[in-house]
Amino acid sequence: MSNTTTFSLHIEKAKESRLSTVDFTDLPFGKTFTDHMFYCDFIDGAWQQPKIVPYQAMTIDPSARVFHYGQAVFEGMKAYKDEDGNAFLFRPEENFNRINKSAARLAMPEFPKAYFFEGLTTLLDMDKDWIKPGVGNSLYIRPFVIATDSAIAAAPSENYRFMIICSPAKAYYKGTVKVLIAEKYSRSANGGVGFAKAAGNYAAQFYPTRLAQEKGYQQVIWTDADTHTLLEEAGTMNVFFRINDTLITAPVSDRILDGVTRKSLIQLAKDNDLDCEVRPIKVDEIVEASKNGTLKEIFGAGTAAVISPISAFEYKDEMHELPEINDASYSSVLKSKMLAIQHNLAEDKNGWRYEI
Ligand code: COI
Repeated sequence: MSNTTTFSLHIEKAKESRLSTVDFTDLPFGKTFTDHMFYCDFIDGAWQQPKIVPYQAMTIDPSARVFHYGQAVFEGMKAYKDEDGNAFLFRPEENFNRINKSAARLAMPEFPKAYFFEGLTTLLDMDKDWIKPGVGNSLYIRPFVIATDSAIAAAPSENYRFMIICSPAKAYYKGTVKVLIAEKYSRSANGGVGFAKAAGNYAAQFYPTRLAQEKGYQQVIWTDADTHTLLEEAGTMNVFFRINDTLITAPVSDRILDGVTRKSLIQLAKDNDLDCEVRPIKVDEIVEASKNGTLKEIFGAGTAAVISPISAFEYKDEMHELPEINDASYSSVLKSKMLAIQHNLAEDKNGWRYEI
């Protein structure tokens, strides 16, 4: 559907804001939501009037296909505010394109661009006081689509709901992250849905991640399902390795998410004359580099955590510690450059900021 779709956005404002009841110094990730939410239903083959209403629980039939077959996709985005109170999104078009790519893979209808941007920017304007200025503060935005048909035949739904909810956020991970390299479980397979932000991709990670946590690791580095020899993602993030002064990250494929943070970091590395190779990375290469002292860093990259340095990994029952991170580490340098662009503290030569 094109950008020129005409529509009217229905708005119902919350009677009272909940903002004053929120403790912004203590914000566990994703548990507090802003005053309003956006939704739009797909019925009889067409998207209906989009609406912004007070954030509230909703009633969905127990037979809705989302509950039975996981026909659901989502996005993760963030809004930031500078010290002058100007609010920005970061590369929102990427998220818009990706949610429709994910939706197509799950046989769900494309959402119109005009609805997405009008809904999102109006919602953010209404809830802008929830975006706190300062590096380290952001508003996490969760667009998602669910299959709402009241029918449990295993077939694509005919009805859907597209929604956007927002949650003020601080850090995603607290402290350092130790990871286990997957030798048995995998998050995606060739021809599967690994490239999509399909809800089920994340549910499938919970059990192996819990097993890793029981061994003292916070996350799993996922390897390819066929051979478990290639390093692909870390937890819910893309993953970068630094050997000597070269950054390496796996190429995107139908198994690997085309992360917005990932592609921005590859560009930022280029912009800052850091070598960055996009190529398959073998577990053996990393183990060898760890043994000979050339493995300097591993970090996850994603919207929620931005960059999450990894302090150690375990592979085949052997623990490998990484050097301690300092201000000159690539993860620190790239993270502060990225945050400076997102918070309007640095020049945005790639045109990534989107003023709301
Ligand atoms: C992201 O960082 O991009 C995510 O989607 C994280 C989310 C699973 C909380």
